[in-house]
Amino acid sequence: MPKTILAIETSCDETSVAVLKGTEILSNVVHSQLDLHKEYGGVVPNLARLEHEKKFDSVLNNALNEAEVALEQIELVAVTVGPGLAIALEVGLQKAKEIAKKLAIPLAPTNHMEGHLFSSLADSKNKLEFPSLGVLVSGGHSEIILVSGVGEYEKIGQTLDDAAGEAFDKVSVMLGLGYPGGPLISKYAAESKHEIFHVKRNQSSYVAIQGNEELELPIPMLNSGDLNMSYSGLKTAVKQLVNSLSGNTDLQNIRSTAESSELSEEQVQDICLLFQTAAIQMLIIKLEKAIKGYPEMKQLLVGGGVIANSYLREQLQLLANTHNLKLLLPPKGLTGDNAGMIGLAAALRDEAGILKVYSANEFAQIDRKPRWSISDIG
Ligand code: KG4
Ligand code: ZN
Repeated sequence: MPKTILAIETSCDETSVAVLKGTEILSNVVHSQLDLHKEYGGVVPNLARLEHEKKFDSVLNNALNEAEVALEQIELVAVTVGPGLAIALEVGLQKAKEIAKKLAIPLAPTNHMEGHLFSSLADSKNKLEFPSLGVLVSGGHSEIILVSGVGEYEKIGQTLDDAAGEAFDKVSVMLGLGYPGGPLISKYAAESKHEIFHVKRNQSSYVAIQGNEELELPIPMLNSGDLNMSYSGLKTAVKQLVNSLSGNTDLQNIRSTAESSELSEEQVQDICLLFQTAAIQMLIIKLEKAIKGYPEMKQLLVGGGVIANSYLREQLQLLANTHNLKLLLPPKGLTGDNAGMIGLAAALRDEAGILKVYSANEFAQIDRKPRWSISDIG
């Protein structure tokens, strides 16, 4: 019998609670703290913690009401314990322990990235097949993973520095567009009136704006011979491009340069288009290399905030079609952080008979794990 699960997620700036019956999501309430952090250009951990504390009870009540499930009917609590911001994770973990203790039911510490990996399973038409290639792209991670089964993960490629979403956020702030960068950059990119094309020069690849030779960006890491990526290098290339266009030689001073609008609207749109194309092509090209290197893969299993990006979704579909792979794509509403995916990860582990749960007298053993990598779950 599928269990009635209460799932809790507070790893970053979303306070979220979901109710599931096995892998079926009955409710998934997300309170985003975006407005709170926007003016700081990024998530402020202490503000996130306070807001989680303030909003948790109402989010919990809404999730139970929407699911039409009483708290007493819950049989298992699943909670994100990492990776994420330590003091934010702490709030969800404490609440989870309190609830599980009160109801005398087991608690399952759950990995946030495993949640993203399985977020597409929210659509019951999507079925897991193994082995699969996992692709995780969020504000903190850019990873390619061999998924041999539920709980069997091997990281085969990752960013060596910034995550993809982090690069979207930093470039957006650099261009004076605001936070979070992903949706803003993709909006400006879509407004560009220009065509983009790929250029190869001295063994390196670039994307360039048709008819304007000054506007180009490299696609980094294509000659690294492995499946790793580097988004910090791309961010630096954007800085240099902005500098050269605005005649500014001070690398630190880009933000004010862009804000004082020495760049025209059209230039900002073109830079967004170039950056988005280079950032996503780096991932797609590495993914294609992985597909060729591991021809036994049956599916592409993708998740994380950046998967909301329409251009990335298109490119993933194209790649999957070209290589005859099934693409499991989460609906746009489930690409960002949410408790539904955390419940799904726990339910799938439970189905596979590998869910590790703790009872109240063992709760002291459960701690948050801010740097818990998906390949270390076991
Ligand atoms: O998975 P997520 O909600 O939180 C983390 O676990 O990090 O991902 C958030 C990231 C942010 O960096 C945000 O800018 C990015 O996802 N993002 C996007 C888009 N929507 C959100 N990046 C590119 N294009 C988008 N449309
Ligand atoms: Zn996330």
